[in-house]
Amino acid sequence: MNKLFSGIKPTGKIHLGNYLGALKNWVELQEKYQCLYFIADLHALTIKINPDELRDHSLQLAIDLLSLGIDPKKAVLFRQSDVIGHTELAWIFNCLTPVSELERMTQFKDESKKQPDNVNAGLLTYPVLQAADILLYRAESVPVGEDQLQHLELSRIIARKFNNRYQRYFPEPKPVISPARRVMSLKYPERKMSKSHGEASYIALRDDEKTVSQKIKKAVTDDQGVLNLLELYSYFGDLKKYERMMNEHKSGKLMNASLKEDLAKAILEFLKPTQEKIVYYENNKSKVEKILRDGAKEAQKIADQTMAQVKQLVGLK
Ligand code: TYM
Repeated sequence: MNKLFSGIKPTGKIHLGNYLGALKNWVELQEKYQCLYFIADLHALTIKINPDELRDHSLQLAIDLLSLGIDPKKAVLFRQSDVIGHTELAWIFNCLTPVSELERMTQFKDESKKQPDNVNAGLLTYPVLQAADILLYRAESVPVGEDQLQHLELSRIIARKFNNRYQRYFPEPKPVISPARRVMSLKYPERKMSKSHGEASYIALRDDEKTVSQKIKKAVTDDQGVLNLLELYSYFGDLKKYERMMNEHKSGKLMNASLKEDLAKAILEFLKPTQEKIVYYENNKSKVEKILRDGAKEAQKIADQTMAQVKQLVGLK
């Protein structure tokens, strides 16, 4: 593992699923590897999103990432649409990707059901753009949650197709999966935590104390639900206490109310310093804009090199 790349869509609030499944890893990995992280604003266009909202969400997302510990001195942070090359490489990859591979993507099927009046071509070719994002930087490792594994598998297929057709040029990028590969919903314990299942199903990074406490109080506590809460506790709380509670749960002695109280406390302890940093960056937006501009410049240098070589290889130059 040496060059790492990953991204997140600016389609709303960051939640604990994003954090535990991917962003926590991003922060840890920047200490050891060359990392590029980006805000996938072109991908956000596959849903109907108001232009001002998209702009605001992108900046808020940058603020959230910096507040969580992404350090522009260690990792390159940029906005996808600021770098020329993503869509150009995606077009070249489009011409190598069988439509049948795209039609079998679970996310395409799910998203098409969610927005039946807007099954646009971008929704279908979304994973091709994702492959281009990664391979534009010839990244080898991609820290993501479990829901992105199928897209990554397609990125490897696309890299292989390119290498076979032209010349061995792209690495086949591998996922880096965190222990919290699939964080579950508070409201629907069998589903993953996601923005699309309503406010009550997730804890957002920017939720205030009252909201966090209420959401956890209302969390479903069937058997799976309790296990999910215990798992969440294991990430934010005290491990010894977690083991004790797990044993109590197994012997039917665990009080759900006290688990919820402890969990809310542990999550709030994590959120407090992050939210303080969010307030700081919200008051210093020009700094954030500059970080994104500088990041885009860095990313563009790599992108330009790749595109010059790719164009040569495919005969566009
Ligand atoms: P996005 O924006 O949906 O999610 C960002 C990251 O959060 C992870 N994640 C979760 N992990 C565990 N449990 C959950 N409940 C949970 N919910 C979300 C996701 O797996 C992801 O790692 N297609 C990508 C964005 C993208 C990208 C890329 C990623 C575009 N190009 C290139 C990597 C490389 C997406 O929609 O992530």
